[in-house]
Amino acid sequence: MRFGEDRLPHRGENLTTQLPPHSRILGTGHYLPPVVRTNADLERMVETSDAWIVERTGIRERRIAPDGTLTSDMATEAAKGALKIAGIEASALDMIIVGTVTPDVPMPATAVFVQQKLGAGACPAFDVSAACAGFLFAMSIADKFIATGQARYVLVVGVELLSRIIDWTDRTTCVLFGDGAGAAVLGPSGPREGDSAPRGVLSTSILTDGSLAKSLWIPAGGSAAPTTAETVEQRLHYVHMRGQDIFKVAVKNLQSACKDALDRAHMTHADIDWVCAHQANKRIIDLVVERLGVPPRKVLSNIDRVGNTSSASIPILLDERIRDGTVRAGDTVLMCALGAGISWGSAIVRV
Ligand code: ACO
Repeated sequence: MRFGEDRLPHRGENLTTQLPPHSRILGTGHYLPPVVRTNADLERMVETSDAWIVERTGIRERRIAPDGTLTSDMATEAAKGALKIAGIEASALDMIIVGTVTPDVPMPATAVFVQQKLGAGACPAFDVSAACAGFLFAMSIADKFIATGQARYVLVVGVELLSRIIDWTDRTTCVLFGDGAGAAVLGPSGPREGDSAPRGVLSTSILTDGSLAKSLWIPAGGSAAPTTAETVEQRLHYVHMRGQDIFKVAVKNLQSACKDALDRAHMTHADIDWVCAHQANKRIIDLVVERLGVPPRKVLSNIDRVGNTSSASIPILLDERIRDGTVRAGDTVLMCALGAGISWGSAIVRV
C-alpha cells in the first residue's frame, strides 16, 4: 500500500475508539546561530565571487554556529519555540524525531540529547537520516503515529550543523550550506466531520533512489571507511557532491513528488496558497514551481539569508513566515525537498 493512503487501523495496534484522521501542526519554532558568513567572506576563503554564487544559487549569506554550539543545542532552541506556540509542555511529548545528518555524535541519536535538554519524560526519541528531506520524512512518520492513535503529541525537528562537515577549501560545496534548526509540534487534528477545510497534514509522499547514493555523500568516517590519518588527509570525511547530477534529478523528482502529494490530497496547484520548498538552489525551486504552474508570488523563500540548511530548511522558512504573518491559520502549504540518498518528498499541510 502506498504511503499516505493507509489511514485504517491495523489489527493489534494501540488505538483509541475515536480515531483522529490525521495530524496537525500545533506550533513551529526555529533557531539560527548569530554568526553571518557572507559571500564576500567566502571570496576571501576560496576562488569564488558574490556574482557567481548569487547567479547560480540565489544565496547571499548563511549562518555559522560558533565553536561550542552543538546540533542538539540548536534543535532544543527551535523545539522550545514550537512547544511555546503549541502550548504543550515538553513532558507531554509522546515522541521526538530529529531529522539530521550532522548528529552530535554517531551514537546515540541527537534526539536523545534534545529529550534530555528539554526535560521531556521517557518517550521514543530517534533520528531520521534523510538529509535535506529529513524534516518531511520525520513529519510523515509523526503523522502516521498520530493518525493511528499511537501518539498524541510529537516533536519533529530538522537541524543541521553543516559547517562542521563542509570542506571550506572546496568552492563547489562550501558556498552552498549553512547551519540552523526548525521544529514543529504535531498533535491530533480532531474529527473531520462537518469541517470542509480541516487544518492538518493532508498528505505526505516520501521516496528514495539508492542508485544515486554516491552523488552526494561523505565517503569516510563510517564503518565502511573508519577515520584514519589517510582519510583525513584526503578530506574524505567532508561532503562530496556531483552538483549537476543532483540539480537535474531534483527538478524532475520534486515536480513528481509535488504532483503526488496534490493527488493524494485531491487538490490541484490552484488550491495551494504557499510553496515552502527546501532552500537548496533558487534555480531548482523556480524551475519546479514553473513546471507545476504555481505563480512566483506564492513561493516562500529565505535562501538569500540562510543558504541550504538541509533538513532544517523547510521548518525554518515555515516558522519565519508564520511569525511574520505571511502564512496564516488555514492557509494551504505545499512542502517539498530532495537531498542525499537520493531521498525526496512532499507534503500538503493546512496550517
Ligand atoms: N565559484 C566560482 N566558480 C565555481 C564555483 C564557485 N563557488 N563552484 C564551481 N565553480 C565553477 C566550476 O568549477 C565550473 O568551472 P569550469 O566550467 O571551468 O569547469 C563552473 O563553475 C560551472 O560549474 P557547475 O558545477 O556546472 O555549476 P552549476 O551551474 O551546476 O552550479 C551548483 C553548481 C550550484 C552546485 C548546482 O549544480 C546545484 O545547485 N546543484 C544542486 C545541489 C543541491 O541541490 N544539493 C541538494 C542537496 S544538499 C544535501 O542533501 C545536504
